[in-house]
Amino acid sequence: MIENISELKVMGDDRGKLSVIEGGIDVQFDIKRVFYIYDVNTSATRGAHAHYKTKQFLVPVSGRCKVTLDNGQEKHTFELNKPNICLFQDAMIWGTMHDFSDDCVLMILADDHYDDSDYIRNYNKFLEVAKNDS
Ligand code: TYD
Repeated sequence: MIENISELKVMGDDRGKLSVIEGGIDVQFDIKRVFYIYDVNTSATRGAHAHYKTKQFLVPVSGRCKVTLDNGQEKHTFELNKPNICLFQDAMIWGTMHDFSDDCVLMILADDHYDDSDYIRNYNKFLEVAKNDS
């Protein structure tokens, strides 16, 4: 799952740094929604769901956190701690975010609008759907 990591180009000079995410170029989809998680309780776990169709791109704009991706057969934990190192979470991947630093701002780009019916929140249900998909 290491191919899930994307390194954005950093344009820097003595004024600071700049990275860009263009839909369909730096991220594999057209961006329809952006949300961000911040002021997270450092002992909290967020996510813990999969999406039937929605693809996501996670950008650790500030601070650090860990993200565990699980395709139903294998799990991999990624540490996100640089604003230009991002993580792609495909549809039908169970994702949990944890070990947030108290300054963490995790921005998430998605290829679709919010739709509660696209969520799988029960892990056993996820395993069942993932098995039937493969
Ligand atoms: P939730 O899915 O629990 O967040 P996380 O996956 O980070 O743990 O979402 C928290 C609340 O925000 C929940 O009531 C749904 C709502 N929400 C929206 O209204 N729109 C969105 O795009 C997202 C991601 C969540």
